[in-house]
Amino acid sequence: MSKITSIISGLSLKEKADLVSGKDFWFTAQVSGLDRMMVSDGPSGLRKQADASDALGLNKSVVAVNFPSSSLTAASFDRALLQELGRNLGQAAKAERVGILLGPGINLKRSPLAGRNFEYFSEDPYLTGELASSYVQGVQGVQESGVGVSLKHFAANNREDQRFTASSNIDQRSLHELYLSAFEKVVKMARPATIMCSYNAINGTLNSQNQRLLTQILREEWGFKGLVMSDWGAVSDHVAALKAGLDLEMPGKGNESTSEIIEAVNKGQLDEKVLERAASRVIQMVEKWQPENKTVISYDLEKQHRFARQLAGESIVLLKNEQQLLPLKSNQSLAVIGQLAEKPRYQGSGSAHVNAFNTTTPLKVVQDILPKTAYQAGYQIDSDQIDQQAEQAAVDLVKQADQVVVFAGFPSSYESEGFDKKTISLPDNQNHLIERLAAVNKKIIVVLENGSALEMPWVGQVEAIVETYLAGEAVGEATWDILFGRVNPSGKLAESFPIKLADNPTYLTFNADRKNENYHEGLFVGYRYYDKKKQEVLFPFGHGLSYTTFEYRKLELLKSDHEVTVSFEIKNTGSVAGKETAQIYISNQTSEIEKPLKELKGFAKVSLNPGQTKQVEIVLDKRSFSWYNPETDKWQVDNGSYQIQLAASSRDIRLTKNLLIDWSENKRQALSPDSYLSDILKEQAFKAPLKESGLDKLLEQLAGDENNQAILTNMPLRALMMMGVSNHQIQQFIKLANQS
Ligand code: BGC
Repeated sequence: MSKITSIISGLSLKEKADLVSGKDFWFTAQVSGLDRMMVSDGPSGLRKQADASDALGLNKSVVAVNFPSSSLTAASFDRALLQELGRNLGQAAKAERVGILLGPGINLKRSPLAGRNFEYFSEDPYLTGELASSYVQGVQGVQESGVGVSLKHFAANNREDQRFTASSNIDQRSLHELYLSAFEKVVKMARPATIMCSYNAINGTLNSQNQRLLTQILREEWGFKGLVMSDWGAVSDHVAALKAGLDLEMPGKGNESTSEIIEAVNKGQLDEKVLERAASRVIQMVEKWQPENKTVISYDLEKQHRFARQLAGESIVLLKNEQQLLPLKSNQSLAVIGQLAEKPRYQGSGSAHVNAFNTTTPLKVVQDILPKTAYQAGYQIDSDQIDQQAEQAAVDLVKQADQVVVFAGFPSSYESEGFDKKTISLPDNQNHLIERLAAVNKKIIVVLENGSALEMPWVGQVEAIVETYLAGEAVGEATWDILFGRVNPSGKLAESFPIKLADNPTYLTFNADRKNENYHEGLFVGYRYYDKKKQEVLFPFGHGLSYTTFEYRKLELLKSDHEVTVSFEIKNTGSVAGKETAQIYISNQTSEIEKPLKELKGFAKVSLNPGQTKQVEIVLDKRSFSWYNPETDKWQVDNGSYQIQLAASSRDIRLTKNLLIDWSENKRQALSPDSYLSDILKEQAFKAPLKESGLDKLLEQLAGDENNQAILTNMPLRALMMMGVSNHQIQQFIKLANQS
């Protein structure tokens, strides 16, 4: 008998019911033969609450290193770094005796207004899936020597307002190609210990009670073997949730949950086997990840802080750098403006909030490097109101300065878990200040601290812009590492920045309806929309500058019967060492379906010394060329032409090559009265049946001039009846054609 079966067989009905609900906020229940186990947030640092717990993070958690938020780490485009981040997080959790770390959150950034965008990776599912897989592998460790994760929030959790009840209404193709595919990749590649189902509903069914999502798709189609827990408070009907495939309700509702389940079993409304299935998965999780069974470890917070600095430095994005204003020159005077330099915003609010170990502020760090640095706050971060005096003092200071760095960003009251943003514009006082400074000094450098995309009405008036997102506790050091060129920037945006909010495809629908979030834009999210719409953007997906330059060369494709190997060279053509992220987009020029112009399907980050060239290889599998067919519920590759685009950003394509895919068995669809003449006339094989059934002559007569021909070919066979062709003739042709 396995250990799990033996524990289960020793449990009373009450104990089984206890086990499928959390004991409290952070612990699983303790039952005969099984100890309790702790779970804790979160994605960018450990939030273990030692004392009284609360979901809003009001009570302090243990001290831990606060790493950059996922919006920044995603910009690293660096799988190895994400794995190292995972290792660091796993180490902290293990040392603190936590069994499951509640993260990473991998929902897509559909609208720039979504409150949790700072916690999520990207608008692109491929990038999200790749980076999150590395992160999960890092946390869980080699042969699962680390800590388990809870991959969250499954699925289509793209808004915060009414997050407990809103229904994400999505067509099946977009759901699979966009919102599920990152989860699918992580489940298959990194085997997360658990998945956290999200609050929302999909197409009317709450995710915690969604059998199709939690059982059919997750377990039967993707082969998930771990445990499904609920997001905190996501369960409305626990019995229905158990039946649908939920294993653990978090946190438990105490006796209320237990007696509900016992009653349902006793009344025959819930099969005890279903309860046992969930209870076994809880036992399996606790047995596997129980930290109390593992060696006690300690860890070095200083070392983790150094890694947090490195991670931020490798991810910060240089958005603009006219006249090579950056890196800063240490022999010229420097003025620092903006209260965010003194009181940086470096992490998000809500369950991802960490009691940071050692926060370094940009102001303190620069004053250590250049003690003569002058500073003016210019605005108050907790207000939108212009402070005339503070603003004037900043303007006066800037007039004299050789170099000016202005810190700007969203106050924490603007973006957080639990509610969505109303605007993506900076507070008025900050925009006003930047415009006034730019009027008196032509060399303004703006450094941004924010969770997600923002509007920059002053973009043309400043010379340089550096996006640091929420850079974690090492924000001070990492920012100046980039500004002084100690680290050459190599981050690239994992999301598009629209010129204005109204340019975003979800502008018409996001939070428009309290109950329903309608994904009318379908597949056209982020760059998939802006590209197809030929819409100018502020900064495109994949964009990021460096202090050096790169040249792309020798793009080659090698096709086998199941994959395509893309190879190329990148050369550092500048004078300093740097890193470049090459991106591979595929443009499907074949399938007769709605589709974006191109989609990201590969990337590689390469480190190069000045003058150095490296050869890079990226393998594209069949799935890279596939689309999800909702009629068959299957991924499908169509034979035909595809363009491979090698790019430095989604709007900077350097080299392209076309290739023919011939992987699918070309099964011709059987003809029916609904088949279109345009398709029939294209096929060589139908020439004979057309002749034999006498249809060829008739078609010639009907076609007449060119205009008629175009009208005619746009008709299905059955429409020919209104033009005097007999049903008999049509049927005869169909029969012959289908035999050909
Ligand atoms: C959040 C989760 C988090 C959980 C526990 C929920 O409100 O949505 O991301 O892991 O609380 O703090």
